[in-house]
Amino acid sequence: MILRYFNFDQKKRIIILKGHIPEEKIEEVKARANIVDVVSEYVTLKKTGRNFVGLCPFHREKTPSFTVNPEKQIFRCFGCGESGNTISFLMKMNNMSFPEAVRHLAGKLGITIPIRDMSGQEKKIASEREKLGRINQMAAEYFSGNLSSNMGKAARDYLKERGIDDFIVKKFRLGYSREGWRNLKDFFDGEKIPLELVEKAGLIISKGNGKSYYDRFRNRLIFPIMDLNGSIVAFGGRVIDKGEPKYLNSPESPVYIKGKTLYGLYQTKMEISKKNDAIIVEGYLDFLSLWGAGVTNVVATLGTALTKDQVELIRRFSRNVAVIFDPDEAGRHAVERSLQLFLEKEMRARVVILPEDCDPDDYVRRFGGEALEDIISHSPSMIDYYIEKIIGGKGTLEETLDSVKDSVSFIRNISNLVQRNLFIKRVSEKLGVDQEVLKTEVNKKPARYKNLTAKVESHRKEVRKVDMVELNLISIMIQYPEKIPVVVRENTLDFFYSPELKKLGEILVEAFKRGKVKSVSDLVDDLEDDVLKDKILKSMMEQPPLDATIIDKSFLDTIIRIRGKWYKNKREIIQREITKAQGAGNTELSEKLVIEKDKLLKEEMILMNL
Ligand code: GTP
Ligand code: MN
Repeated sequence: MILRYFNFDQKKRIIILKGHIPEEKIEEVKARANIVDVVSEYVTLKKTGRNFVGLCPFHREKTPSFTVNPEKQIFRCFGCGESGNTISFLMKMNNMSFPEAVRHLAGKLGITIPIRDMSGQEKKIASEREKLGRINQMAAEYFSGNLSSNMGKAARDYLKERGIDDFIVKKFRLGYSREGWRNLKDFFDGEKIPLELVEKAGLIISKGNGKSYYDRFRNRLIFPIMDLNGSIVAFGGRVIDKGEPKYLNSPESPVYIKGKTLYGLYQTKMEISKKNDAIIVEGYLDFLSLWGAGVTNVVATLGTALTKDQVELIRRFSRNVAVIFDPDEAGRHAVERSLQLFLEKEMRARVVILPEDCDPDDYVRRFGGEALEDIISHSPSMIDYYIEKIIGGKGTLEETLDSVKDSVSFIRNISNLVQRNLFIKRVSEKLGVDQEVLKTEVNKKPARYKNLTAKVESHRKEVRKVDMVELNLISIMIQYPEKIPVVVRENTLDFFYSPELKKLGEILVEAFKRGKVKSVSDLVDDLEDDVLKDKILKSMMEQPPLDATIIDKSFLDTIIRIRGKWYKNKREIIQREITKAQGAGNTELSEKLVIEKDKLLKEEMILMNL
């Protein structure tokens, strides 16, 4: 039998990953965090029996298969197979490092993690993302100070004129960047922050090829842009009153990807989830104006076309959206483009077109938030709007032909067959084209997304191959650590067939010897093998807590079955070799093998009578 020993490199890596946070702090954070609360910030969860379920934030799905188990403090998606504990959830969700996720959680729980000077090694490890986050945070505080200082008077007046009160300023951490070329640069210089990093964050720009820098934002109102955790990832800056360009935004950076960020979602995600509806506007000021008027389930796209990633972000909180578009030609195209995205993500989208020449900000300032909410509640579905206003309502034959062409290329991009058929039916009725003809046109190109289903399928097959008996022993070792000495005494781990499960058993034994007890969610951090992790979590998710009254019997059964399986397999191997040796006329070898087989049988008899 091949013995695989615990791979110590892996352990070393975990220690390094934990960075400069003291072990006991990590344990405290883990012990106090509740996975249901943490996940609920990103996914709307519903209780079903022992678990909570929701739509998986890691892949596209229609029916919830993302499962959170509060007893074991783990999550798993039965669709795409993502799995882990509270910390790994945050790491995946926000692209955080281990220490970032721990610090983030600690912050939420009010646990203070001492900041000590990092060693040279640790400094290197502390990720760039963390540093850029801190730099943005410092800049936001600096801008906020500017706004409330004497120099911020004109900016404050402008905000007042636009109807933005102090509460909004605080809540959205608005600021002001002073007139001048080097204010922020000098500030960071004074704080001894490497300017290359400040440049990387997009706050200063290097001049020529030398080491001379100047501020990106000068004499502008500042809107900090946050990720879903409230970390500032970028800034938008508006001229005070009039000037060009009206807006300046931070460039993309390691912490900021434009198409994956939505302004204000951090502050409004819970409201969106509660109202089960999101209102999408384009601008910072539209957003703030609506929020100020009590329309708080709002997000802003910041002037760029809505992306698939942004739709996915919103979808975590609600599948209903109302998009406020401009009534012009650009708005029309935007409807078409975004409808495609919403259909793909199975969202229910509505179109809101405000009366002539009104942007959302103008509208609420003139008529109030309730009037806007009233319009929104009566807004047509985007599908109806598309068919009635964009496809239909034309006149001449040429125009109808153009509409057919447009709709064919639109329908081709709909991957869901039911949706496709629905569109074919509605469009053919609207344009007076034969349904079958339209269908034939549309089907000249294949639907997309075939390989995604294949990926999920193959993943499911892989997971089916778990050794349930070995896994059962691991579960017992986790839930009843007092049984671990028996496992050690009987060398049961040596009879394991799965090297990964064996490794897990060894981790449990080692922890037990050090007087520690490991939970399922701890093991998630100990393992980097995703397939194994997934197998374990899947089975743990499905398995009810082991019944204490039958545990002794079940435990011995498991040990015996593991051994039995090992001996059976061994016997079969020897038998095959005997047959081979006999076939080759090698009597010497075959006799030796027969003796070995007898020995094995005797050993089995003794051992199985535990
Ligand atoms: P106000 O004009 O002050 O009411 O601001 P707004 O937020 O309503 O802006 P507007 O409707 O003109 O534009 C919507 C969004 O597009 C803005 O919030 C910006 O994010 C973006 N945007 C507008 N103008 C510019 C520009 O000149 N440069 C860049 N980069 N973005 C812009
Ligand atoms: Mn505006």
